[in-house]
Amino acid sequence: MIRPEVDLSVTLGRIAMKNPIATASGCSGYGEELARFFDLSLLGAFVTKSITLKPREGHPPPRLTETRAGMLNAIGLANVGVETFLAEKLPALEAFRVPVIVNVAGSTREEYVEVAAALDAAPAVAGIELNVSCPNVKEGGMEFGVEARTLAGLVEAVRQKVSRATLIVKLSPNVTDIAATARAAAEAGADALSLINTLRGMAVDGWTGRPALTNVTGGLSGPAIKPVALYMVRRVWQEVAGPRGVPILGLGGVQFVEDVLEFLRAGATAVAVGTANFVDPETAPKLVEGLREALGRLGCGSPRDMVGAMDLPK
Ligand SMILES: Cc1cc2nc3c(=O)[nH]c(=O)nc-3n(C[C@H](O)[C@H](O)[C@H](O)COP(=O)(O)O)c2cc1C
Repeated sequence: MIRPEVDLSVTLGRIAMKNPIATASGCSGYGEELARFFDLSLLGAFVTKSITLKPREGHPPPRLTETRAGMLNAIGLANVGVETFLAEKLPALEAFRVPVIVNVAGSTREEYVEVAAALDAAPAVAGIELNVSCPNVKEGGMEFGVEARTLAGLVEAVRQKVSRATLIVKLSPNVTDIAATARAAAEAGADALSLINTLRGMAVDGWTGRPALTNVTGGLSGPAIKPVALYMVRRVWQEVAGPRGVPILGLGGVQFVEDVLEFLRAGATAVAVGTANFVDPETAPKLVEGLREALGRLGCGSPRDMVGAMDLPK
């Protein structure tokens, strides 16, 4: 078989990615550590850890623990705050010549809006990804991303202040129906959807009764959550994103090239690598080359042709 030239480029909203492989928020900081392992310009995009209005220390350690086929974390949004991020971290990231997507967290709607507006004013920020798995402190404490109306209110408010950067809403899997929150985010003006964030979980030592994390509960990530993520990407693509032409950034357990193919076929336009970075920090550039090779073998000239392509039972 003659193998086609593979063009790996994709677009996520207005972000031109040279390939569909990004990093996942919180799993490679602001880029400096990862850049010791490979040239970040090889990535399709770099996603920062969550940025809040003020600097945060996060939860006391231990805040990470390994579980069977996964990892639990309760970092508690430790970050430098938006002012220091813009002054110190963003210029360093810009120098890596990779599209930068900044993940934003907050405890009130106003906080999200203020941080997102400051980031939209910085041309080096290509995308803003809203981490909506944060408690809404002012209105009852429930996470912003679990109830469609609350989520729509947040996304609408942020959308009004974000006119330049691509606005991505990162959906929580801790919901009854992910299509409902996906629809709310898309109708409120999201340019793209990313999914999934971590699944809520807990680990406890059965002999001593001591929780593995100081915070007791945490977010589950890694291979253990991949089937859940694939199902949710498929559902959101079918019900919301596909019909509206809203691209999906898929994540949850991406480690091998087969995982990338699976997410593309489920409906993702691009994928992000999180927990796998802790196993091998060079996972992402290896996936870029692996994907080029795999698409060539499949006789497929572009990952765009794989999006949603499943051979379903007749
Ligand atoms: C240590 C750690 C820190 C994380 N921090 C953030 C964060 O700050 N903001 C966010 O939106 N997601 C955060 N996540 C979630 C990941 O971005 C991702 O959605 C999730 O881990 C699933 O992908 P994975 O299985 O490839 O890790 C974090 C995950 C881990 C493991």
